[in-house]
Amino acid sequence: MNFENILIELNSSLATVIINRPKKLNALNRATIKDLGKAFKTLDKDKTIRAIILTGSGEKAFVAGADISEFANYSVKEGKELAAKGQLALFNLIENLSTPVIAAVNGFALGGGLELAMACHFRIASDNAKMGLPEVSLGVIPGYGGTQRLPQLIGKGRAMELIMSAGMINAEKALSYGLVNYVVPQEELLPLCNKIAGKITNNSPVAISYAIKAVNAGFKNNAKGFETEINAFGSCFGTADFREGTTAFLEKRKAEFPGT
Ligand code: COA
Repeated sequence: MNFENILIELNSSLATVIINRPKKLNALNRATIKDLGKAFKTLDKDKTIRAIILTGSGEKAFVAGADISEFANYSVKEGKELAAKGQLALFNLIENLSTPVIAAVNGFALGGGLELAMACHFRIASDNAKMGLPEVSLGVIPGYGGTQRLPQLIGKGRAMELIMSAGMINAEKALSYGLVNYVVPQEELLPLCNKIAGKITNNSPVAISYAIKAVNAGFKNNAKGFETEINAFGSCFGTADFREGTTAFLEKRKAEFPGT
């Protein structure tokens, strides 16, 4: 498999998928989302692959969010499509994959980056990782299931605070919230993920795929939540706040929201 924006390393029954746009802190543009979707689909079909690790290239970021430069000029319709397509093609795909997916969060996991990590079956972080959903600082809401999966993982009150403040939490806090399962120094991150993946690959892949289905089924009554998120995400693209938020980011200045 050859992709422009991702690398795939295969080591017997384990695949490591590396998002490879380090100069842009691995920000998710449409092409990367497409590559990831294709890669996960292909790896899931390969019965010799028993676990997948997803990580970012470089030492600074897992993924610093959806690519703001790409969507800043989108209309409401395009914004809604962006959210709906991404969710279907990648985030829901990963969550429902029959092969276990571990997110190795090796730095910033912000916006779409944290949403991607949350779509994985569980997360392990390096001690320099920083996580958050900064979307409201750009005049938009968390998409790709962020408003649904964050409260599932850390509880409603903590999720509300993190979303409304657009703040970042460090790896230790993420551990205490249950957002990640372990925190280790960066050089130990992939070895730990490999070790845990090794344990997983000794077990029945069929039973594991059924277990993933069963665990996910318990959270499936939130279809309305996902739908509301897509519609609200799209609506933001018609606001003056969104124009100001994204323009300010690209002009590297603080946003002054008009509130309309
Ligand atoms: N979309 C597009 N480009 C991004 C990006 C994103 N989400 N995140 C980072 N980049 C780009 C920067 O624009 C910069 O590009 P440039 O060198 O061409 O100017 C490059 O990646 C490096 O980022 P920079 O901001 O210079 O690094 P930093 O160490 O000063 O700051 C962050 C790191 C993560 C705090 C900062 O990049 C940031 O706030 N990113 C956006 C986070 C966000 O709001 N994500 C949610 C999007 S929905």
